[in-house]
Amino acid sequence: MLRSILFGSCILFLASSALGPSESLAAGDAAATYKTYCSSCHGETGKGDGAASAALDPKPANFADAAFWKGKDDAYLTKVIKEGGTAVGKSPLMAAWGAVLKDDQIAGIVALMKTFKGK
Ligand code: HEC
Repeated sequence: MLRSILFGSCILFLASSALGPSESLAAGDAAATYKTYCSSCHGETGKGDGAASAALDPKPANFADAAFWKGKDDAYLTKVIKEGGTAVGKSPLMAAWGAVLKDDQIAGIVALMKTFKGK
């Protein structure tokens, strides 16, 4: 009995210490998440020039191009990322990430994408 209580509180302690830092590092998190899941196609700086992009048709969107941002808002971007290209009449090569990424991770990526916007 005592052993299982000790074990349980140990797990709780580990879980809470694992959650703490990731919340306070939200911005860095978005960059890491983007790098892991998106940059292979969309490129590290969002230009649509990731390593896998050469083989794709249509090409991944270029987030650095001002034309890309015309008429696009957070709700639209969130929908594409969550439900995939087909949800907005685009290519299925843009997958749905809703099962992989949590809402706050997607919100972080949307914010990050805006920093790629044409300079
Ligand atoms: C396998 C390659 C691939 C990966 C990985 C990928 N995408 Fe895409 N993405 C595409 C392609 C291809 C398009 C262009 C679809 C089209 O124009 O029909 C696209 C389009 C988009 C668009 C624009 C849709 C539009 O209306 O023009 C957004 C936003 C986007 N991707 C975000 C992301 C995010 C965020 C991630 C990471 C979570 C990601 N993509 C991962 C291939 C990819």
